[in-house]
Amino acid sequence: MEKLLITGGNKLTGEVTISGAKNAVVAIIPAALLVEGVCRIENVPDIKDVTVIIDMLAQLGARVEYINKNTIEIDCSKVDRYTAPYEMVKKMRASYYLLGALLGRFNKAEVAFPGGCDFGVRPIDQHIKGFEALGVKVEMDHGIIHASTGKLTAAQIYMDVVSVGATINVMLAAVKAEGVTIIENAAKEPHIVDVANFLNAMGANVKGAGTDVIKIKGVKKLTGGTYSVIPDQIEAGTFMIAAAASGGDVLIKNVIPKHLESITAKLIEMNVSVEEYDDAVRVWRTGKLTKANVKTLPYPGFPTDLQPPIVVLLSIAEGTSIVTEGVWDSRFQYVDELKRMGANIKVEGRIAIIEGIQRLSGCPVKATDLRAGAAMVIAGLVADGTTEICDLKHIDRGYENFEAKLVKLGANIKRVKV
Ligand code: EPU
Repeated sequence: MEKLLITGGNKLTGEVTISGAKNAVVAIIPAALLVEGVCRIENVPDIKDVTVIIDMLAQLGARVEYINKNTIEIDCSKVDRYTAPYEMVKKMRASYYLLGALLGRFNKAEVAFPGGCDFGVRPIDQHIKGFEALGVKVEMDHGIIHASTGKLTAAQIYMDVVSVGATINVMLAAVKAEGVTIIENAAKEPHIVDVANFLNAMGANVKGAGTDVIKIKGVKKLTGGTYSVIPDQIEAGTFMIAAAASGGDVLIKNVIPKHLESITAKLIEMNVSVEEYDDAVRVWRTGKLTKANVKTLPYPGFPTDLQPPIVVLLSIAEGTSIVTEGVWDSRFQYVDELKRMGANIKVEGRIAIIEGIQRLSGCPVKATDLRAGAAMVIAGLVADGTTEICDLKHIDRGYENFEAKLVKLGANIKRVKV
């Protein structure tokens, strides 16, 4: 087992470069199943989730080759399987994109119900509603989703909830469906736009991604091409919050500042300085952190995936802050770990009431999920003494070279085998 040992108190200073977006690439790689030629994908983050989804494609018969650490080539021309059993999909939630992609490719998919981080109930009813509207028969049997149709036909689909996964999955299934599919009340996250741009670069006709209405005109086939994944909004936000928490001064490079506006605004409200450049943001702090209220919402609202990191920041800010989780039913499990470090937080359902304290104190904690793991690292960076974090598999799923990037900024953090 591996652990992170962090000795807190160092201010983060210098420059960090953000990697490609996890939540875009875990959809773009399965989307390659729809492409007849070779796809070259650049700016692929070197994270566990990418290895897992590549492995799934390889098991389906795709040829995936690493050109270098962050560039891959995928050739799905020989894929002849449309089944993804539990053993294959259990490691990650995003394996549900195999459903849309395989449907688009074969009009048929058999995919086990996916795994992933535990935030309470994680239904996929909106994915299924979308597929059914496209003429697909969907049945659940022994934990496996069986989806098939003679022919995918375009439809107008109104999403009852704003869902990243359902929006992308329906987009994947509709790309080659005859006619014009319209998704209303679509999610607008940067990775939705990125997946649409990837599909368009391969020959699809998707318009309106990034707004609530996406129109997909079915095309006969997608040919190959080269595509570069956008920078990771959540990784960038994590470093912004870490810089603010440590009281340092960090230039966060390779970002799209527009994607970070909700975070920038909240940090400024908390007395942190943020300066935007074309493709970078500088975050620094000279004064005390002050309280703020945060409500997580679908994009362009404050991202739920940065809720654990911002709670850590608020836990050392002066005053009482209220954080409302507006996306997931149960995303405060990690708060118990933070309380062991001295944080004064009361959770009631989807609301956390945080009384700021002067300093956290280091102790052994665990990463309960990916973003909670990142939050524990930030807590360790600012805590008195040494923080020991276990269950690193969660962090490794989604952050490329996390410790190395932090060490370069001056953090005292090392990974040890125990
Ligand atoms: N929902 C439904 N029905 C559905 C789908 C979703 O009711 O069919 C509900 C969910 O229960 C939730 C809300 O809609 O309350 C939003 O869920 P969404 O479908 O948008 O989430 P997701 O696609 O499963 C992605 C990210 C998550 C991120 C959420 C919200 C990926 C692979 N995962 O999940 O990222 O929290 O969107 O932005 O893109 C992470 O990166 O750590 C992570 C968990």
